[in-house]
This record gives sequence, structure tokens and C-alpha cells, in this order.
Amino acid sequence: MRKGYLRKMPSDPSATAFANPNIAFIKYWGNRDEALRLPVNGSISMNLDGLFTRTTVSFQPSLPFDELIVNGHDVTGPGLERVSAILDLIRGMARIEEQAEVISENNFPSGAGIASSASAFAALALAAGKAAGLELSERELSRLARRGSGSAARSVPAGFVEWRAGTSDEDSFAFSIAPPEHWALADCIAVVSAVHKKTGSTEGHALAGTSPLQAARVEDAPRRLDICRRAILERDFEALASAVELDSDMMHAVMMTSSPALHYWQPASLAVMQTVRQWRGDGIPACYTVDAGANVHVVCPEKEAQEIATRLRGIAGVTDVLTARAGGPAKLLEKNLGD
Ligand code: DP6
Repeated sequence: MRKGYLRKMPSDPSATAFANPNIAFIKYWGNRDEALRLPVNGSISMNLDGLFTRTTVSFQPSLPFDELIVNGHDVTGPGLERVSAILDLIRGMARIEEQAEVISENNFPSGAGIASSASAFAALALAAGKAAGLELSERELSRLARRGSGSAARSVPAGFVEWRAGTSDEDSFAFSIAPPEHWALADCIAVVSAVHKKTGSTEGHALAGTSPLQAARVEDAPRRLDICRRAILERDFEALASAVELDSDMMHAVMMTSSPALHYWQPASLAVMQTVRQWRGDGIPACYTVDAGANVHVVCPEKEAQEIATRLRGIAGVTDVLTARAGGPAKLLEKNLGD
């Protein structure tokens, strides 16, 4: 970049933001464009209140390179490169050259198997944009977060969120379809495995197209999205439950039939899924969904969550249960708050 086009740094080039992770009701699995993270299908999720990533970004003229500290540990290599790629986009938009220090913390245990990339890249986009002096809309922030991790696009807006696949970088972003208070749902996360997963989502997305079932999954996605969106808007738990379970099972069918095959379920995952189906048959409102890991997210009305969490703890192989309600949007934090 030519110096003449560079802007002066803002007087205080640092900002702190926080964001919740989210659980997808209709899953994102597979990209049309890996570099831009343009998904093959739209997705719908709920933010998870109480669980969060908090990230401080400060652009510093004295730094030779970007630095990343996550939960007190220096991160280098691919983890840092992924963050620097987002900082580069922001530097380009703000016309600044300074490198940044990024300090990030998750309040949920990394062993709990909840993907932190959604909350991490949502908080990074918001903090870095602000620190660089940019005034970005929710849509622009969602697009930026998407470039770091697809599911992070959905952690920018509040509550129940839809990410339209779109056709390009410009129109692939997430937006809120209902605020968190619209429907008192909870996610009881049954932790069944602390084993580190072998294949992460990014590698998994690249394999999705090798499954002969992926085309059918993608073709049927608009129908599942419609059912899920309507179920949320009408607070229809039965309709939500069957769409959520079908969508999770279809994604895992694709994963299991990819080359190489990805098997994320553990015996205890299956035990939880079967038990949840049994409960629903007995009139208890609960449904399951599983991401690219072994833990089972059990979605239920908030008033049932305590009872369901207690029951889940009683299933052999469940080592812990974390409960979260529907969460708000990614937010900037005032200086020194929560330090
Ligand atoms: C199974 O957003 O984690 O959780 O874009 O490579 O970071 P990257 O992938 P990621 O994929 C999420 C996959 C999923 C389903 C979902 O959250 O929609």
C-alpha cells in the first residue's frame, strides 16, 4: 500500500468485544467457495447465552507482527494466520498498516467440546473493526466474521439467527429472525467425550462433496430451513424438534459417507440421542443435535432444562452437562469492564 493512502491511527487503537457461540438447528456443512467461506446451504442457529469469548485487539505501531494469546497461551502457526487474515481485511478497509496484539479468552472449558471459532471470530471482527476506527454495520461484521469461521457469521446478530447462503461475499451474511426473548428455549449440552476431535470442521467442509448424499442434503435444505424458520416464529416445538433431528442426522450421514469417512458419534452420543427420542415419545419436549464432535446438544423449553440436565447426567458416559439459554448479539465492552 502506498504511504500517501494510509490513514492516521485512531487516538486509542484498542477495543474489547464479546460474543456467544451458537448451536445450529439447520447445519452449515460444505462450501461453494472455501477461501471466501460461501456455504452450499443456508443455516439457522441460536446463540448460547452465558458462554462467551472476550477479545481485546490493539493495533500497535511498535509491533513487527500480529500476536495472538488465547486463554493465556501464545498461539502461532495456522491459528495465528487465520486471525491475521481477518486483521488484514480490516487493515485494508481502514487503510492502516499497524500490527495488532489480540488477547482472547473463552469462559467455557476447551475440553467441553463446544466450538469456540464462532464466538472467537465474531468477537474478533467486532473488536478489530472498532480498534481500527471503522464504523461497521451488523451485516458487514457478519460477513467479516464469516471469513474467519462460517458459523461465526451467526454469532454476530442476536438470538435466533439465519445465515443465507447468498451468491457472493456481499450477500452471504447472517441476520436475526427473532430476539432471544422471543422463545424461552435452552440447550443442555451433554458432554460425552473430552477426546480431542481428529478432523476439525474446516477439513470436514472440504470433504462434504465427496459423499454421494451431500447433493440430496443440499437440495432439501430450503425445505428444512422453511420448517425451522416457521417453527421458531410460531414457537412450535414439535415442528422444530423433527426438523432439527432430521437435519443433524442428514449431516452426520454425509460425514459418515465422505472419503475419508468422518465418524463423530461415540456410543454415549447414540445413547443420549435414543434416550431423547424416547423422552419425546413419552411427552417430554426435547430434541437432539450434534455438531462435528461427540457431544449432544439437547434443545428443550427453558422450564424443562433443569430436569432434563439432571436426567442427562444419569446416562452412562455423560461426564458433564452445560446449560445455555438463547443469547444476545456480539457486543463491544466498555474499557476496564469485567477486568
Ligand atoms: C457442524 O463454522 O466451525 O458446527 O468455517 O471451517 O470454521 P469453519 O467451520 P465451522 O463449521 C460449523 C459446522 C457445524 C455446523 C454449524 O455450526 O452450522
